[in-house]
Amino acid sequence: MIKAVFTAAAVLLSYCASAQKSLPVYLDDSKLIESRIEDALSRMTVEEKVAMVHAQSKFSSAGVPRLGIPENWMTDGPHGIRPEVMWDEWQQAGWTNDSCIAFPALTALAATWNRDLSRLYGKSLGEEARYRNKNVILGPGINIYRSPLNGRNFEYMGEDPFLTGEMVVPYIQGVQSNGVAACVKHFALNNQETHRHGVNVIVDDRALYEIYLPAFKAAVQKGKTWAIMGAYNKYKGLYACHNNFLLQDILRGEWGFDGAVVADWGGVHDTKESIFNGLDMEFGTWTDGLSWGQSNAYDNYYLAAPYLKLIKSGEVGTKEIDQKVRNILRLCFRTTMDRNRPWGSFGSPEHAQAGRKIAQEGIVLLKNTGNVLPLSSAKVKKIAVIGENAIKMMTVGGGSSSLKAKYEISPLQGIKLRAGSEFEVSYARGYVGDASGEYNGVKSGQNLKDDRRASEILAEAVQLAKSSDAVIFVGGLNKSDFQDSEGNDRKELGLPYDQDKVIAALAAANKNFVFVNISGNAVAMPWIKQVPAVLQGWFLGTESGNAIASVIFGDVNPSGKLTFSFPVKLSDNAAHATNSFPGTDEVEYKESIFVGYRWHEKEKIKPLFPFGFGLSYTTFEYSALKADKQKMTSDEKLTVKVDVKNSGKVDGAEIVQLYISDLKSSLPRPLKELKGFEKVFLKAGEKKTLSFEISKEDLSFFDDKKHQWVAEPGDFEAIIGASSEDIKGKIKFTLTQ
Ligand code: BGC
Repeated sequence: MIKAVFTAAAVLLSYCASAQKSLPVYLDDSKLIESRIEDALSRMTVEEKVAMVHAQSKFSSAGVPRLGIPENWMTDGPHGIRPEVMWDEWQQAGWTNDSCIAFPALTALAATWNRDLSRLYGKSLGEEARYRNKNVILGPGINIYRSPLNGRNFEYMGEDPFLTGEMVVPYIQGVQSNGVAACVKHFALNNQETHRHGVNVIVDDRALYEIYLPAFKAAVQKGKTWAIMGAYNKYKGLYACHNNFLLQDILRGEWGFDGAVVADWGGVHDTKESIFNGLDMEFGTWTDGLSWGQSNAYDNYYLAAPYLKLIKSGEVGTKEIDQKVRNILRLCFRTTMDRNRPWGSFGSPEHAQAGRKIAQEGIVLLKNTGNVLPLSSAKVKKIAVIGENAIKMMTVGGGSSSLKAKYEISPLQGIKLRAGSEFEVSYARGYVGDASGEYNGVKSGQNLKDDRRASEILAEAVQLAKSSDAVIFVGGLNKSDFQDSEGNDRKELGLPYDQDKVIAALAAANKNFVFVNISGNAVAMPWIKQVPAVLQGWFLGTESGNAIASVIFGDVNPSGKLTFSFPVKLSDNAAHATNSFPGTDEVEYKESIFVGYRWHEKEKIKPLFPFGFGLSYTTFEYSALKADKQKMTSDEKLTVKVDVKNSGKVDGAEIVQLYISDLKSSLPRPLKELKGFEKVFLKAGEKKTLSFEISKEDLSFFDDKKHQWVAEPGDFEAIIGASSEDIKGKIKFTLTQ
């Protein structure tokens, strides 16, 4: 008996040992990823390889079933996890376990200027994706805000390349700490929705390298993003999804990107270009269901049967497919095949609270004459909340970032919850905008229809405003077509639905008037002199109303600042002043490097609200600005220090900005450019010293003749500001060599 047990144990041991010995390299965690990739690749047939480089459903692509290599499952992005869709339709699939936390739009995140919150955002979103078994998040979006008409600006981070780069890096790191890839989009030059599927962008190299590429470069080199999405538009006559210049020369060549290049959905147009110009994964080419095309429409993708045929016929070799599959396997090993990655979590109170914190810090106080805000029960009892956006769900709509949120607190709900019995809150509609509330089968469930005449609706609101102590008007844009929405651009800078008239009437009816602008874009404010208080509210997600209420009642001291300039009128914006938006087959970025505040400053056009601007319920004093040296060499760093004191009565946070001005250069340069910022929390009366390091990179421009970054010796200024306009001090220094 004992002998039998021993024999069995010995057999088992030798079986385990041989199993261990025969564990293929690609499954062996102890081996380096690169050798695992080569091992997996060597086991794959050409059919298996081709299957990996194109979609198999709306949001997934094949793994290698025979080898146990999992499929890749993507999800939008970038503000929450998109609901499950049907296999080959945009329509939601009607699952009941996929209602997510909607995080604030990326415009709101960027307006926090808080790198820690960007990391928290990425980490929380990555956890949601991980739980829902998605290994790639289609986001973040980091295209530069060129025109306030771009319908997708709300998904991006503003007009400044440095700020966008600083904010995107922690987001990516946060997402990827879950073993979920970020897929940074849309690379590159996708700065408008009009003609997005074919417009050829003409941009000079300086603007390309100094304005439109730096955030992508930061995402690749500092954020180490595992995936990147090609844009729809063309550059140099080639579609961005198979564009040699962008993907081979710059992304892989100059920046050393080792991740997967994913096409935007329907962004691929040519098999050979896709083979040779650096694309790895094709998605969304035929998107109207399995009815169009042959038995399996996915076989007809540019990188499916047509590719296989070219390889089989010998017309195309296997070098390119091997390289694509390597990049995709790398994505798999970093995500689905990482046995140690966390499990994620979904729809949790922690995520909702993370979203609320980001929303609260992103809200920007643009005007507060006479300290109308915060509302206090010592001065105000009856509050009138007016406006469609006080009740409209904003997480549904807007294109691919549309969500099925677990819940969404509207501004009216948030204000009522916070007001409790301390205040009396009444509501009037004020105007009717867009009563619809459905996107791809996700319904907001609200009935916003109101058939009364506009004059009647306005009269009711004015009446309420007159009989109240304060008015909170919540208006702005929404996620409908031609507003803040994918697929088309806005038609004008002005507010839609005659809101200007409503605002003017309400502001005349009640002097304690607050305009809360819900938007991802600048809007015109022709009535600004009559309106004492303005809050920039953004699209704030699940906890939207609570976040807005916390600022309105002063539980939170606003500390967001603008990431793009608000022009007074459309022609004050560079793209429109140069009459180069949106073009037709082509669009030429005639303003070159002078985008956003760079244009306003060069042309001396005062914006309505400048880049970097935002008020607080407290005040800050700047002092003791100094540098550690007056001269620096290009190997050295120069340190600038400044003291900032909270000189008011409430705790608050200030965003201190460092701009650099090149006083004399051989090529034209903006008057100044953002090169550093710190957000500092200060208790009332507290003072802290902030420190900024300046290196040669911060002084450089892109020399298009030499095709390299150049820091020209000469005089510079380090400028400390509370915004791009509100300058607190300057220090001159010299770069000696
Ligand atoms: C958008 C992408 C999105 C993709 C998938 C495209 O239309 O441009 O941003 O990730 O659809 O939904």
